[in-house]
Amino acid sequence: MTARPYVLLSCAMSIDGYIDDASTERLLFSNDSDFDRIDAVRAGCDAILVGAATVRRDDPRLLVRSDRRRADRVAHGLPPSPVKVTVTGSGDLDPTARFFTLGDGAKLVYCPRGAVEKTREQVGAVATVVDAGDPVTPEAVLADLAARGVRRLMVEGGGSVHAQFLAAGLADELHLVVAPFFVGDGRAPRFVADGRYPWHPGRRARVVEVRQIGDVVLTRYALSDRCDGRGGG
Ligand SMILES: NC(=O)c1ccc[n+]([C@@H]2O[C@H](COP(=O)([O-])OP(=O)(O)OC[C@H]3O[C@@H](n4cnc5c(N)ncnc54)[C@H](OP(=O)(O)O)[C@@H]3O)[C@@H](O)[C@H]2O)c1
Repeated sequence: MTARPYVLLSCAMSIDGYIDDASTERLLFSNDSDFDRIDAVRAGCDAILVGAATVRRDDPRLLVRSDRRRADRVAHGLPPSPVKVTVTGSGDLDPTARFFTLGDGAKLVYCPRGAVEKTREQVGAVATVVDAGDPVTPEAVLADLAARGVRRLMVEGGGSVHAQFLAAGLADELHLVVAPFFVGDGRAPRFVADGRYPWHPGRRARVVEVRQIGDVVLTRYALSDRCDGRGGG
C-alpha cells in the first residue's frame, strides 16, 4: 500500500485569530519575505490543496513564483509548480479562475459522486474531476493523491479544509503565521470552526520553530511523528 502523503498545513492569521476580513477584497497577512518563504515551501511540495470557497473568493494562482525554484524543480524532473488540488460539493467552480487557467501542471478537483456530472460540466475541460465517494473525506483524497505519486501535500486553506485534516488526525505539520494587526469583526472567518481536534490542553502540539520574518511571526508545529522539525522552508 502506498504511504499517505506528508501533509503540511499553512495558514496566516491576525492577532485575534481571523484568516480574512468580512469584505469582498482579499486581505493579505504575510509580507514580501514571508510570501517568499511560502514560495519555497510550495516549491518543496508535489501538490497544493485549497477548498473551493478559497478558489472562488481569493482566486489564487498557486504557482511557484521564483524562476530559480521553478528551474530547480524542472532540473529534478518535476513540473515547474506542484499539482493544484481542490475539493467541492457544489461543483460551483469557474473555469476562468486562475486556479485553472494559470500554469501547465495538472489540476485535480475532488467531489462527491452526486456532483461529478455538474463539476465535469463546469471544469471538466480544464481539470481532472475525481469521484471521491460520498462524503468526500481527507482520507479518500490523500489515498488518491498517493496513487498519483504525490508524497508531500501543502494544504493552504481555507478553514473548512484545514479543520477536516486536523480533526481527522491527518496533518503532520502546521505553519502558522501571525500578522501584527487585529480584524476585530465576528463576521470574518477564523482559522478553524468549533470541533474536536487531536490537540487540546491534555495533548499539546510540539513547537519545532519560531521565527520572526519582518513584522510577522511564523510558528511551526509538529503534529505527528513524521515531522522531524527540519526543513522549515
Ligand atoms: N489566511 C489564510 O492563510 C487563508 C488561506 C486560504 C483561505 N483563506 C480564507 O479562507 C476563507 C475560505 O475558507 P472556508 O472555510 O470558507 O472555505 P474553504 O475551506 O476554502 O472551502 C470550503 C469549500 O470547499 C469544499 N469542500 C471542503 N471540504 C469538502 C468536502 N469534504 N466535500 C466536498 N466539498 C468540500 C466546499 O465547496 P463547495 O462550496 O463548492 O461545495 C466548501 O464549501 C476565505 O475567506 C479565504 O480568504 C485564508
